[in-house]
Amino acid sequence: MNENKYYITTPIYYPSGKFHIGTAYTTVLAHTIKKYRQMKGFDAYMLTGLDEHGQKIQEVAEKEGKTPQQHVDDMANMAKELWAKMKIEYDDFIRTTESRHTKVVQQIFQKFVDNGDIYKGEYEGWYCTPCETYFTPTQLVDGKCPDCGREVKKMKEEAYFFNMKKYQDRLIKFYEENPDFIDPVYRKNEIFNSFIKPGVEDLCVTRTSFDWGIKILNDDKHVIYVWLDALTNYITALGYMSEDETKFNKYWPADVQIVGKDIIRFHAIYWPIFLMALDLPLPKKLLVHGWVLMKDGKMSKSKGNVIYPETLINKYGLDATKYFLLKILNDGRDGVFTPEDFVELYNSDLCNDLGNLLNRTIGMINKYFGGTIPNKPEKLTDIDKEFENTINNSISNYEKEMDESHVCNALSEIWNIISKSNKYIDATMPWALFKEEKTQELEDVMYHLVEALRKVAILLKPIMEETSNKIFEQLSINNNDYNNWENINNYPQYNGIKVTEKGEPLFIRLDVEQEVEYLKEIIKGK
Ligand code: MSP
Repeated sequence: MNENKYYITTPIYYPSGKFHIGTAYTTVLAHTIKKYRQMKGFDAYMLTGLDEHGQKIQEVAEKEGKTPQQHVDDMANMAKELWAKMKIEYDDFIRTTESRHTKVVQQIFQKFVDNGDIYKGEYEGWYCTPCETYFTPTQLVDGKCPDCGREVKKMKEEAYFFNMKKYQDRLIKFYEENPDFIDPVYRKNEIFNSFIKPGVEDLCVTRTSFDWGIKILNDDKHVIYVWLDALTNYITALGYMSEDETKFNKYWPADVQIVGKDIIRFHAIYWPIFLMALDLPLPKKLLVHGWVLMKDGKMSKSKGNVIYPETLINKYGLDATKYFLLKILNDGRDGVFTPEDFVELYNSDLCNDLGNLLNRTIGMINKYFGGTIPNKPEKLTDIDKEFENTINNSISNYEKEMDESHVCNALSEIWNIISKSNKYIDATMPWALFKEEKTQELEDVMYHLVEALRKVAILLKPIMEETSNKIFEQLSINNNDYNNWENINNYPQYNGIKVTEKGEPLFIRLDVEQEVEYLKEIIKGK
C-alpha cells in the first residue's frame, strides 16, 4: 500500500439549488486538509461531486420546466464555477448520472443480490420527501422528520432491502476496535447508542415511486434508492470495478471522509456495511461537522435567511470568507453566521491582529534599517527565548491539530503566534530602542518579527493561500527556500534581503455599521 497517499472526500451535494455558505464550508475544509497534506509531502487526492438522482431533483427540474438531466447539467456548471471562484483544487468531480458511476452501481447491486445481501420485500414506513428517507415510527420526532423537522407521510411499496442485520456484529466489533473512527467521539457515542447498539434496521435500497435514478439490472421498474447510489461514489470515482482500477488500488481506503452531522448515520452504519459486504477496507476516519446556522436557525430560501459564498467573496475576499467559516465551526458543533460577528472577526482578527502586525513590521524595518531585514542575532534575550518557545509550541500544536484535520484549532494556534508577536512589540518597544540607539537590540527585535511572520505565512498556506502569498511578497521571501514546511523551524540568515518599501494592507478596515447593514439586506434577499 502507498503510505504516502491521502484520500479526502466531501459528501456529494444535492443539486437542488444554489450552494450556500454551509455547502461551501465542507468543501473549503476538504480543500484545506488536502493543501496541508500536500505541504507535508503527501500525494493528496480530493474528491467532490453531485448526488444527482432522486425524487427531489426530479421535482425541482419539473418546476423549472427542465428535464432532470438538463437541470443537473446546469447545476454541475454552477458548482464547478463556484469551486473555481473559491480556488478549490479538487482532483475529481463525480456526478452520479455519469456512466462510470451508474454502470458500477448496477454491478454492485447485482453482487449484493448474488451474495444474498439484498432481498425483495415490501416497504411500509414514514417517508420524508425532502430528505428522501423512510423512518420507523420510533425514529420520528414529534411525528415529524428527525432530520429536517418537516411533515412525513405513510407509504408502502414493493422494494428491495439490504440485510443490514447480517452485519450488525461485525459493525459493533469494528467500532470497538476503532473507537476513534468517528471524530469527534461524542458524535460516535450518539450514533452508537441510538442506532447501532439497539440493532440496525435493514435498509430499503430501491424505489418504484419515481424513476429518476439508476435502474436495477433485472427488474427495471425499480430504481436504486439514493443512498446506495450516493455512498458508492467514493469508490466508483476511483474506478472500482472498472477496467482501470489503478486509482482505486492507490487511494482506497479514504483517509478522511467529511460529512455534516445530518448524514452521519448513512456514513457510520450503511457505508461501512456496504464496504464489508464488498469485502473492502473501511475508511480511516469520518470527520463530522456541525451546521452553519443563521440567527433564526437553518438557512432556507423560504425563510429568507440565506447567505451565499459569492456575496462574501465579492465584497470581502476569499480568504476572509474562508477564515470566518473555518473559525465558527469547531468540534462537530454548529456555528452561527451573523453580520455583526463577520464584521467583528474581520476587523479584529484580520485587520488589527494580522494586518497591523505585518504593516507595523514592514514600516519599522523601512524606517529603522532602510528596508533591510537584519541578520540573525548571536545572543538571545530572555524575552526572545520566551517568544521563540511560544512560536515553536504553537507550530507543534498546529501540526498536531492539522494532522487530526482540526482546522479551527490550528487557526487558533496561528493567531496565538500573531497575538504574541503584537505583545512582543509592546514589550520590546522598538521605538524606544531606536531613540536610545540600541541598534543591536533593535535588529534583534525586527529579525524576530520577520521570523514570526514568515512562520505565520507558512502555517496559513493551506488555509488562506492568498494572504500567505501576500505576506511572503511583502517580506520579499517569496520563491525561496524559506517559504516551505521543511524550513518552518529554522531561524535562517536573510543576507540583506529587503522588504517591500510600502506594504499594502492585507485587509482594509470595515465600517461596522455600514457593512452590518449591507449584510443584513443581502440576507433578506434585497
Ligand atoms: N447528497 C447527500 C450526501 C450524499 S454523500 C454520499 C446530501 N446532500 S446535501 O446537499 O443535502 O448535503 C451535503 C452536505 O452539506 C452535508 O454534509 C450537509 O451536512 C452539508 N450541509 C448542508 N447544509 C449545511 C449547513 N448549513 N452547514 C454546514 N453544512 C451543511 O446530504
